[in-house]
Amino acid sequence: LCTCWDVRHSEHIEQQLSEAGQILADGGIVAFPTETVYGLGADARNTDAVASVFTAKGRPSDNPLIVHISHTDQLGSLVSEIRPLEQTLMDHFWPGPLTLVMPVRPNTVSPLVTAGLSTVAIRMPDHPIALGLISASGCPLAAPSANRSGRPSPTTAAHVMEDLSAVIDGVVDGGSAGIGVESTVIHVQDDHTIMILRPGGVTEEQLSSFATQVIRDPALQDSSSELTPRSPGMKYTHYAPQGSMTIVMGEQDEAVNHYIQQQIAQAQERGEKTGVLVFDETNINSTNTVILSLGSRDSLAEAANRLYGALRTLDSEGVTFIMAQGCDQQGMGVAVMNRLSKAAGGQIIYV
Ligand code: TXA
Ligand code: MG
Repeated sequence: LCTCWDVRHSEHIEQQLSEAGQILADGGIVAFPTETVYGLGADARNTDAVASVFTAKGRPSDNPLIVHISHTDQLGSLVSEIRPLEQTLMDHFWPGPLTLVMPVRPNTVSPLVTAGLSTVAIRMPDHPIALGLISASGCPLAAPSANRSGRPSPTTAAHVMEDLSAVIDGVVDGGSAGIGVESTVIHVQDDHTIMILRPGGVTEEQLSSFATQVIRDPALQDSSSELTPRSPGMKYTHYAPQGSMTIVMGEQDEAVNHYIQQQIAQAQERGEKTGVLVFDETNINSTNTVILSLGSRDSLAEAANRLYGALRTLDSEGVTFIMAQGCDQQGMGVAVMNRLSKAAGGQIIYV
């Protein structure tokens, strides 16, 4: 098993981060908490180290990684140009859950990081342990989410261990990640237009005060589209639980409730192990069903926070049939519905 540095309530954080940082500087791979989800870090300039990240995760090599920095001084050596709107967004949202795709400076990061693209994705995480570890390592850290490819992203060190303990050098345990879904990945198209490549912790509403137009990559709109997403990772069916999952949407709680209970009852007759993932306003009354709450529908940030842990619980309980409730695509609801519909392989029913 790998080393675990537990930095919660620790009096030796600096010592622990310097040990973990040294392993990274020497080409090792170490998982760490951020304000979104846990990441699996490697020196972005070291091709062998980055290759071990792809191997550990079982990640397709055409899916590029985000480079994490702790200081804006590191930017100049990674990108070839910073445009005014990009600068404004970095000033306002960093450190924070916003990733910018910018033109890569040649011969800096390993070509594996960019998967051969001419751009590199960069973010500065808003988490003291992440920032401390990046500084201690002295490297820009390439860090995808620290899960096996296809599994829900990890929001605790225990999730990381579940997936990767046998194949990584260590994990820094800083407790639960805060937001619970990944950063928003954007591309600034011109001085007035921001394109969202992956919805996440920074909402469209927040971005819209900085640009005349905030648009979504058209390839995100419907899963049946033939368009290639500009963020290569978005084409994979991530986060899929083992059981078959359907999202139920409807104006009336009563109708949603009724439909879910009916489907659950039928599935149980077929011998399925059933589970539901619903908002507290929907009162599911069913025995022998794993009932998981996404919190109140009035607080979609809570749903974001609970989502990945709930998907992991459905798997660990061996659930084979899942009914999940959808939500409005406002604020954090955009990211929540994006992850939910991926988990459901695009199966959505309107009642
Ligand atoms: O919150 C997060 O962003 C977390 C934490 C650990 O920081 N990281 C994360 O990394 O979610 P990952 O590898 O799971 O997702 C990175 C996403 C993928 O969808 C990838 O395709 C996209 O960013 N991406 C990376 N580089 C890109 C580029 N040059 N152009 C377009 N998309 C890119
Ligand atoms: Mg990921």
